[in-house]
Amino acid sequence: MNDKKVMIKIDGLDIEANPGQTILGAAQENGIYIPTLCHYGKTTNVGACRVCVVEVKGARSLVASCCMPVSPGMEIRTDTKAVRDAQRLIVELLQIP
Ligand code: FES
Repeated sequence: MNDKKVMIKIDGLDIEANPGQTILGAAQENGIYIPTLCHYGKTTNVGACRVCVVEVKGARSLVASCCMPVSPGMEIRTDTKAVRDAQRLIVELLQIP
């Protein structure tokens, strides 16, 4: 078993995450809020709602933080305009008349 921590940055903060941990899990353990809808702690992540999207440096698009495992050196932003706009649009689209 590999217990070596994975160093990442979230919103400019250096964070030690566990190998295989999701971005959402690492954020939550460090008091960083990422909104969620379909994620429930002990269930399998399905990545259905996309409300938990974040920016990952070098990624072509926003990623669902509840499904994406951390990797060494990953730089994540939870608070950009692109993230907030996407979250707002997703919630608006989920509203059923
Ligand atoms: S909380 Fe729904 S996709 Fe992440």
